[in-house]
Amino acid sequence: MRFSSLLTLASAVTAFVVNEGTTCTLYPESLTHQGLAVDDVPSIQQAFHICGINGTIIFTNNTFTIATVLNTTNLLNVDVILRGVLKFTDNIPYWRSNSWPVIFQDQVTAWLFGGTNVTFRGEGGWLDGNGQAWYTFSANTANLPGRPIVFTVFNSTNVLIDGLKILQPQFWAFFAWRSSNVSLTNYYTNATTNNASYTTFNTDGFDSWNTDTILIENATIVTDDDCVAAKGNTTNMLVRNVTCHGSTGVTIGSIGQYPATPDYVSNILFEDVTCIDGLNCAYVKTWQSAPEDQTENGDAGGGGGGLVKNVTFRNFKLQNVALPIQITQCIYASTSAGCNTSNLALEDISWANFTGTSEYNIAASMYCAANHPCPGITFQDINIQSVNQTEGLPLYNTTLQSEVYQCANIVNQNGSGIPCNRVAPDDFSQFVGANVQ
Ligand SMILES: *[C@@H]1O[C@H](CO)[C@@H](O)[C@H](O)[C@H]1NC(C)=O
Ligand SMILES: *[C@@H]1O[C@H](CO)[C@@H](O)[C@H](O)[C@H]1NC(C)=O
Ligand SMILES: *[C@@H]1O[C@H](CO)[C@@H](O)[C@H](O)[C@H]1NC(C)=O
Ligand SMILES: *[C@@H]1O[C@H](CO)[C@@H](O)[C@H](O)[C@H]1NC(C)=O
Ligand SMILES: *[C@@H]1O[C@H](CO)[C@@H](O)[C@H](O)[C@H]1NC(C)=O
Ligand SMILES: *[C@@H]1O[C@H](CO)[C@@H](O)[C@H](O)[C@H]1NC(C)=O
Ligand SMILES: *[C@@H]1O[C@H](CO)[C@@H](O)[C@H](O)[C@H]1NC(C)=O
Ligand SMILES: *[C@@H]1O[C@H](CO)[C@@H](O)[C@H](O)[C@H]1NC(C)=O
Ligand SMILES: *[C@@H]1O[C@H](CO)[C@@H](O)[C@H](O)[C@H]1NC(C)=O
Ligand SMILES: *[C@@H]1O[C@H](CO)[C@@H](O)[C@H](O)[C@H]1NC(C)=O
Ligand SMILES: *[C@@H]1O[C@H](CO)[C@@H](O)[C@H](O)[C@H]1NC(C)=O
Ligand SMILES: *[C@@H]1O[C@H](CO)[C@@H](O)[C@H](O)[C@H]1NC(C)=O
Repeated sequence: MRFSSLLTLASAVTAFVVNEGTTCTLYPESLTHQGLAVDDVPSIQQAFHICGINGTIIFTNNTFTIATVLNTTNLLNVDVILRGVLKFTDNIPYWRSNSWPVIFQDQVTAWLFGGTNVTFRGEGGWLDGNGQAWYTFSANTANLPGRPIVFTVFNSTNVLIDGLKILQPQFWAFFAWRSSNVSLTNYYTNATTNNASYTTFNTDGFDSWNTDTILIENATIVTDDDCVAAKGNTTNMLVRNVTCHGSTGVTIGSIGQYPATPDYVSNILFEDVTCIDGLNCAYVKTWQSAPEDQTENGDAGGGGGGLVKNVTFRNFKLQNVALPIQITQCIYASTSAGCNTSNLALEDISWANFTGTSEYNIAASMYCAANHPCPGITFQDINIQSVNQTEGLPLYNTTLQSEVYQCANIVNQNGSGIPCNRVAPDDFSQFVGANVQ
């Protein structure tokens, strides 16, 4: 298709795509509809259809309305350039019944993206998830069914996403699924609620599942949930220079949810990470052994097997984090039953060169299941003090005035470098809201 002018195009077809050679340039329908927010997804699908092999797709510097689901997969040798804003509508009933399944945890996504040899560059543009409507609607319900992940890289090889910004994500901002060699560089996502009663729970900055070879470099992530989470079958991942605001930190997990599909996670390096405020910073979380429904969405879990091996967290800075370092083997268990029999084994996990402050009097809680104590767990140069300690103030309502490091079922605990000074309770929560007694 070739059009001589925008006017010809606008009057000739509904889609607003200008195609020249292998380049498709997109303009929003609003330009020819008196500024009305008409769904731009048909044009976008058409652009990817025309230019989705050996092509370039450019979103011009305008606001596009995303009122329906996007499926732009099976691209080959394509460059996507985002100069405008893609604004998702807040038609909650539509999205809850039409978003694409991603299998994992029965979650769904608004946009399936991917292919082979694909780049996506944010050149001043961004995605606006219109998330406030979802934060208010879901009212802190975990994993509300049908609440869509913004952007999912699926079934892809060699995908570089650079300069992507996702503001007010509806749910998780970015998901890498069944792909290999995915790079996410110079990434920014920010979920901020304007309603003190409703958090931005579940607006994870990044999650991966069944994906090999991942680079995340230079990212700023604002969320009330996981900053970066490597879930089942994430392998060979490097996360470097990430700042997490108000989050539950960078994590392996949650894994071990489904007995039929064991989770293997290996060769993961997190380095130069800063955690500011929030609940957690650098940790590993697995489900317990007994199936239980603890996710409040009918999505029961527990009893999944597998292995986490060769994970490093190094060069971290902390500011006022509630529980900076943790291993838990029963993240969602309602009781301690199951913490000692988790089917997931953990080995060779190290934490090195941490500086900064915890919010309370605890730096680390390291609890491995009694049925397979963890070998190869090490700490080196961990220098964490509570905010009050650094200010010479006493810690409130506790006799423990210096940092707590609690441990259980760590193989060779004395040689681990962890300054264990307390036995970790088996059901110690991820959520710490007061000093340890
Ligand atoms: C895409 O480019 C490759 C390599 O240049 C070429 O072999 C292939 O035929 C092209 N495909 C299309 C549909 O243009
Ligand atoms: C997405 O589009 C591709 C064609 O490019 C198709 O093969 C695939 O089935 C679609 N995915 C879904 C979930 O409909
Ligand atoms: C993808 O790019 C790599 C490296 O440039 C090249 O070797 C490979 O053939 C490309 N794959 C396809 C399917 O074009
Ligand atoms: C997009 O246009 C706005 C003004 O409408 C301008 O401020 C902004 O710099 C432009 N962005 C890009 C990437 O050109
Ligand atoms: C996954 O990608 C391959 C090409 O790499 C393609 O042949 C296959 O159809 C895609 N599967 C789906 C479900 O899109
Ligand atoms: C996140 O967004 C909120 C609301 O726009 C803003 O106040 C805050 O500064 C942003 N945080 C970062 C780290 O960019
Ligand atoms: C990360 O940011 C630094 C400093 O701006 C820059 O030198 C580096 O190239 C960036 N890394 C990537 C992968 O873009
Ligand atoms: C780290 O990433 C931030 C963006 O989040 C960037 O501004 C900064 O330059 C990067 N620093 C280095 C040392 O790469
Ligand atoms: C992980 O990969 C293994 C094969 O290596 C497979 O058996 C298992 O089902 C996968 N797990 C998930 C969660 O897909
Ligand atoms: C451990 O993981 C790192 C990447 O973080 C990798 O460079 C190293 O080769 C891995 N070690 C082994 C023994 O596989
Ligand atoms: C420790 O981490 C800091 C960043 O927090 C870094 O600047 C410093 O070089 C690291 N030290 C070593 C010995 O790697
Ligand atoms: C820190 O000190 C202040 C002032 O004494 C006190 O109100 C606060 O509870 C203390 N914080 C903790 C975590 O103990």
